[in-house]
Amino acid sequence: MTEPVYSPGLEGIVAGETAISTIAGGLSYRGYSIEDLARHASFEEVAYLILHGELPTAGELASLRERLGQSAKLPGEVIDVLRAVPHTTPMMDVMRSAASLLAHWDPDVSDNSHDANLRKAERLLAQLPVALAARHRLRKGKKPVAPDPKRSLADNLLWMLEGKAPSASFVKAMDVSLILYAEHEFNASTFTARVVCSTLSDMHSSISAAIGALKGPLHGGANERVMEVLEEVGSPKRAETWVRDALARKQRIMGFGHRVYKDGDPRARYLKSLCQDLAQEVGNTALEQTAEVIERVVTTEKKLPPNLDWPSARLYHYMGLPVDLYTPLFVVSRVTGWSAHVIEQLDNNRLIRPRARYTGPAPRAWVPVERR
Ligand code: CMC
Repeated sequence: MTEPVYSPGLEGIVAGETAISTIAGGLSYRGYSIEDLARHASFEEVAYLILHGELPTAGELASLRERLGQSAKLPGEVIDVLRAVPHTTPMMDVMRSAASLLAHWDPDVSDNSHDANLRKAERLLAQLPVALAARHRLRKGKKPVAPDPKRSLADNLLWMLEGKAPSASFVKAMDVSLILYAEHEFNASTFTARVVCSTLSDMHSSISAAIGALKGPLHGGANERVMEVLEEVGSPKRAETWVRDALARKQRIMGFGHRVYKDGDPRARYLKSLCQDLAQEVGNTALEQTAEVIERVVTTEKKLPPNLDWPSARLYHYMGLPVDLYTPLFVVSRVTGWSAHVIEQLDNNRLIRPRARYTGPAPRAWVPVERR
């Protein structure tokens, strides 16, 4: 028998097939480049494309918006839990619990068919932003704000978080960030979701597990760490010394490097100019200058280009959002990609069960407890 292939971290391994997105020639969802989608589409159109495979007609988009509007509410019991969770619980843990709890009130919970999974996916897409905003307000002792059916998902998110109408530029920036975060082939959290459902488990279990995988700082959790770094650096003047010292200590600079993009993340390139525009608008160009210095040094010294989390952290900061909402915002968007992968996996399922290379002791004789 030939020795099975082993690649640490599964680097370079093709672990399955997908028709949802590819990074070949830049990132595209279902054949459309992310640049075209970010420039022309709304997040709802992109969510429809990812979930259903084609861009929606005007009628299909209107019905999707209507379905999302109808589902954008939480059972009272879920609100009670969101209120009762200890004040110190990290927001990503709350999101993971919310995804899991929502299963108990989902009318399709025990139906694992393609159509039921699409319905569950759309419901989660509508409910997770409501859960995020509700928890954010409840922890501050405020009442949750109901979604406004006339607003888009991005607009509603900001509306429900702040309780006031956001500016058009904030809504646009949020919408674009949701589009760019929506889907990314076999990343760690998506692969987690596929592994879970490959046992014929269900949508909510897959999404809860994916949220758990996303929260780590090497994956989605990086966008929060980016902001912590920028806050620690403090000013453009300190940036060069700070980053050179950090690199000398072999510290990882969050928001840089990527397993599958060695020449740069196209999402980061796209978001950078939007980020600079928003910085101008809110009058925080010092942070852009700090980021620019760090980017120059890390790119020259380590040949590591920034990833999407590098500009998105600043984008959310300019919108005045607290840092611990950044990775949950990634969840609100990526639930589309995760769900599409769960559906695709189940449509043509084979249990995902790789092998391990054994590195333990050679066979040895049993030793009774009194002789150990
Ligand atoms: N800062 C400093 N050095 C780095 C960084 C970084 N951000 N990323 C990689 N390196 C170095 C690493 O130390 C190693 O150096 P050496 O060969 O001297 O030991 C080399 O580059 C290769 O690193 P690796 O960890 O083997 O590469 P990987 O493909 O496993 O890592 C990564 C990919 C994203 C985990 C890594 O680049 C990293 O930790 N980046 C920071 C965290 C981050 O920004 N994550 C968000 C990823 S994009 C959004 C998402 O999809 O979640």
